[in-house]
Amino acid sequence: MANVHAPSGHEKIETSNFLMIVLILVAVAIGGIVEIVPLFFQRSTTQPAEGVKPYTALQLAGRDVYQREGCYNCHSQMVRPFRAEALRYGALSTAGEFVYDHPFQWGSKRTGPDLHRVGGKYSDEWHVVHLNNPRDLVPESNMPAYPWLLKATVSPEGMAPRMKALRAVGVPYTDDEIAKSAEEVKGRTEMDALVAYLQVLGTSRK
Ligand code: HEC
Repeated sequence: MANVHAPSGHEKIETSNFLMIVLILVAVAIGGIVEIVPLFFQRSTTQPAEGVKPYTALQLAGRDVYQREGCYNCHSQMVRPFRAEALRYGALSTAGEFVYDHPFQWGSKRTGPDLHRVGGKYSDEWHVVHLNNPRDLVPESNMPAYPWLLKATVSPEGMAPRMKALRAVGVPYTDDEIAKSAEEVKGRTEMDALVAYLQVLGTSRK
């Protein structure tokens, strides 16, 4: 009589590809839910950190330029919890600093430095010269030049709908702020807007 060894217990799982795959997926799914779902309800991830304010109309317009030009393809906005990061960029990023960011600009690609704490690091003039042609300030830079930002102006009528849309997802803009948004950005260039945005990044913690 052939000695047929029927697998039992854990061996049953380990010798069946199908069972192994299904159970791994179940285990990973449970682990994911346990890690992620509580974050939807924690104060530290859903409430603004101290000092965090919604972007002004001009800063918001700058944020849109940042997204349109794809700055996130080379710059992250998250100082990660490592000593080297804190030494180079400043205070570690916390979730509460991003509650008004829809969508957030954390990114993951760092061809250039992290920008979450860049606000206040340089003067407005520095940013204007740098964005116009990075090589004027950093000869070895491979960052693209954005000279058209000096000429393109922000559309004033575009701001109110954007702010209303953000209000719908929880950014506490007042009717007054929305009403004044067109006036605030009138005649301003996209360069003004982008620099205003860069200068406020990460400043709630300084
Ligand atoms: C192809 C990659 C690339 C893209 C796209 C890019 N950058 Fe950069 N950026 C860099 C590199 C590399 C540096 C470092 C050298 C330098 O300062 O120019 C840098 C530096 C910077 C700095 C100085 C940071 C510091 O702490 O010294 C700022 C501010 C900046 N970039 C903003 C922007 C903005 C805003 C955009 C979009 C309009 C942008 N970058 C797009 C690669 C990029």
